[in-house]
Amino acid sequence: MSLDNSKIGVIGAGTMGSGIAQIASQNGHTVVIVDSNEKILTQSNENLKKVLNRLIEKGRINEGESNKIIENITYTTQLELIKSSDIVIEAIIEDLNVKHNLFKSIENIVSDKCIIASNTSSLSIASLGASLKKPNRIIGVHFFNPAPLMPLVEIIPAVQTDQSTLSEIQSLIKRWNKVGVLCKDTPGFIVNRVARPFYGEALRIYEEGIADFATIDWAITEIGGFKMGPFTLMDYIGNDVNYAVTCSVFEAFYFDPRFKPSFTQKRYSEAGFLGLKSGRGYYKYNNKQTIIPSINKDHDLGTAIFERILFMLINEAIDAVFMQVASVEDIDLAMTKGVNYPQGLLSWADEIGLKPILDGLQNLYEEYGEDRYRPNPLLKRMVRNNLKFYS
Ligand code: NAI
Repeated sequence: MSLDNSKIGVIGAGTMGSGIAQIASQNGHTVVIVDSNEKILTQSNENLKKVLNRLIEKGRINEGESNKIIENITYTTQLELIKSSDIVIEAIIEDLNVKHNLFKSIENIVSDKCIIASNTSSLSIASLGASLKKPNRIIGVHFFNPAPLMPLVEIIPAVQTDQSTLSEIQSLIKRWNKVGVLCKDTPGFIVNRVARPFYGEALRIYEEGIADFATIDWAITEIGGFKMGPFTLMDYIGNDVNYAVTCSVFEAFYFDPRFKPSFTQKRYSEAGFLGLKSGRGYYKYNNKQTIIPSINKDHDLGTAIFERILFMLINEAIDAVFMQVASVEDIDLAMTKGVNYPQGLLSWADEIGLKPILDGLQNLYEEYGEDRYRPNPLLKRMVRNNLKFYS
């Protein structure tokens, strides 16, 4: 079966579901979007019209195309309308029981051939598939926010998923001009696993009193070339949301100390310093404008901070290769296309040289004696054998 002209059902008309419905409709599919909340459906429809009007103003689409995109989408509270869907993408609240109940209802409505996909960020695809009578049709398709703009989609087959479900979804995502990366059904998939030290190590450096938030952000952007520093990004994501993801990854990894959440972030969340949305996070905001405190622009300090965070990120990316979570190329694509890193971590590692990275991590490990700094065995082996990730 090809999904080229398929009918798409999207469940959940919130941030992600609305974006996914827009992508599907822009690619010529007939879309039914279902939400239990009528107001959210109206909002989703109004937001889409605003987005499309902006695209018309910018000359990206014409009025006829805009009308077609709107007409392609049916907004409804009635789940039954997904009956003729070839694929259903679920994007409702992140709750296993609620998703299980929904999946059972979906399966009672759609045909046996319909693929059932989930946009979950933190639940295992295997656990979602367990609620289905035909679990070979379950698959994870993890979009990034805002879905119409972010190119990356992590594609996650569960242990129950069959090859045809995977192949059909891979070609559909490609046809939508998205960058699909194949990922094992493991906690945090690629991006939310590999990116943890970006936040965690930055918080740790702050907690040790090595530098303040603004200086760490300066080191990462000015010296490291990242678009945003970790504290600016956490304020943007929301401290509550970022802290919850860290806790969920930590728990899912059976409390591996590499993923240990930070007290600082917990306290900031508890205090309601959630970031941009609450007017205060690590930074203070005035009408959404950051009030930047003074920065210590000491180049040696900045380089040490940047290298410590980068080496920890590279160690995590190497662990994802070591544990067969994804290919070297897909891990690099995930971090550049999903979270805008300036370079793939593994190609960056090749460029720096694996030996200095191993030495850097080894020094941290000896200094602190903490497991979070343990260099990955694959890194050690590659240094021993003088290997690179890309030949
Ligand atoms: P959201 O809160 O914006 O939207 C969820 C929608 O689902 C709400 O409109 C709610 O009314 C609806 N809903 C809840 N239960 C329902 C049910 N039983 N039937 C029909 N509709 C129901 O949530 P958001 O942020 O769009 O997240 C949705 C999913 O996408 C979650 O699994 C989340 O983990 C995942 N995700 C979120 C990302 C983000 O940045 N927000 C990024 C990638 C994945």
